Amino acid sequence: MEYNVIKNADKIVNASSYVVKTPKNYKNKWATLFGNKNPIKLELGMGRGDFIIEMAKTNPNINFIGLEISDSQMVMAVENLQNSNLQNIKLIHADAALLAEFFGKEIDTIYLTFSEPWPKAIDEKKRFTHGSYLRLYDKIFKKTKHIILKTDNKGFFAYSLCSLSNYWYVFKKISLDLHHEEIPIKNVMTNYEKQYLKEGRPIYYCDAIFEG
Ligand SMILES: C[S@@+](CC[C@H](N)C(=O)[O-])C[C@H]1O[C@@H](n2cnc3c(N)ncnc32)[C@H](O)[C@@H]1O
Repeated sequence: MEYNVIKNADKIVNASSYVVKTPKNYKNKWATLFGNKNPIKLELGMGRGDFIIEMAKTNPNINFIGLEISDSQMVMAVENLQNSNLQNIKLIHADAALLAEFFGKEIDTIYLTFSEPWPKAIDEKKRFTHGSYLRLYDKIFKKTKHIILKTDNKGFFAYSLCSLSNYWYVFKKISLDLHHEEIPIKNVMTNYEKQYLKEGRPIYYCDAIFEG
């Protein structure tokens, strides 16, 4: 997906105290950076950060990290955090493929929110639920692995359920229409999710764990 080029994006991103400029330096030290031992939850491809910022605001006893590769999306996330004074959120401007360089076994939950579906077979390895990514997540999860996934893409959802299941994850919850469950599932919306909901598209959801 391509986004608008924003002038001086690097400068704006690097000026933010929420952005961790050298994430490799904090491998196995994120608790020290946050100043507490609270759980750390990570969103991959946070876009402009609506979800992770709201999660941080409403869960002060949990630490959140948003990771995003796009310059322009990072700028928007940084701008969304302006004038907030949150101690429990950090942002990383990087490719998710580098996760193991940034974290030891420190992460409690990974959120995969409206990740690129990469529908062509040739791009399968780029899907955040491909086996190679699941093996990568093993390197950064604490004892229990926990992935929460939301998407509007039925094909990507079906693929992800198979991939997670093949990798021995079990599903605490699956929804084929997150916003129309009889018993509502606790949920904070992402930017894409707000748009898709307006368009009346169903949102697929799963909460998967592996207890080692
Ligand atoms: C469809 S958008 C979803 C954004 C946000 N999660 C939401 O739901 O509003 C997917 C995001 O993933 C980011 N992304 C794609 N591949 C990535 C990668 N390898 N590492 C980090 N971010 C990535 C894109 O730049 C984009 O912002």
